[in-house]
Amino acid sequence: MPSFIDIHCHLLPGLDDGPSGFETAASMLEMAAADGIAHIFTTPHFQPGGGAYSTNSKEKIISALSGFQSRVNTVVNLYYGADVRISYDITARIENGEAATLGGSEFFLLELTDHVLVPNVEGLVFNMRKRGFMPIITHPERYGYFLKDMAPLRLMRENGAMVQITALSVTGGFGRSARKRWRGRLEEGMVDFVATDAHNTKGRPPVLSAAYNEIKKEFGDKAAGKIFFENPHMILEKIASGPLKNNPS
Ligand SMILES: [Fe+2]
Repeated sequence: MPSFIDIHCHLLPGLDDGPSGFETAASMLEMAAADGIAHIFTTPHFQPGGGAYSTNSKEKIISALSGFQSRVNTVVNLYYGADVRISYDITARIENGEAATLGGSEFFLLELTDHVLVPNVEGLVFNMRKRGFMPIITHPERYGYFLKDMAPLRLMRENGAMVQITALSVTGGFGRSARKRWRGRLEEGMVDFVATDAHNTKGRPPVLSAAYNEIKKEFGDKAAGKIFFENPHMILEKIASGPLKNNPS
């Protein structure tokens, strides 16, 4: 079996609600490596608008990752990224280099709002794609508004966005309704990635194997392979060969 690639992980200490110190982050890395994860995108929250995570610019994340890499001893390959919260001007913030994409590729994590979906996200997605960026909508299975109405997510996907669900949602760690929702989306072929969205070693750990095994069992090798290996590998290839190469590792 190939190694896992985790495209969404709050591994860097001290930047957001991930690990508060180096030791926990190092334990998370050990845990990930033991689970068969060979590549991790470190994706701290970036939430423009003046809040606590509004200063997590690409530059700051790259510098934090470089500092972390110089201290830690690991076989896991680390790449920078960000968990980018949606805002009306987010495309401009990506274009001007303030918000980090995944390793400098055109792929980036797009986190939606918690309680009410901002209007016309599908239009925003359309514009992002037109400008050459590929938004990956993170954990739609955890938003109540999609439980009521899945149409906006379908529209986003029709306009070219990809979709990432969280490993714990697959295995039931976020409750039965989240689990039911991911199953529905998977059956529709709407799930492109599963990532850990890990924040620590206990409640939100960096583990992919359990979700992989469950998807393989329920939906077969081909579906599991696309979600866990083929699609994430596409991002690594973009970093290795693309003109936007800017990976500090
Ligand atoms: Fe996240």
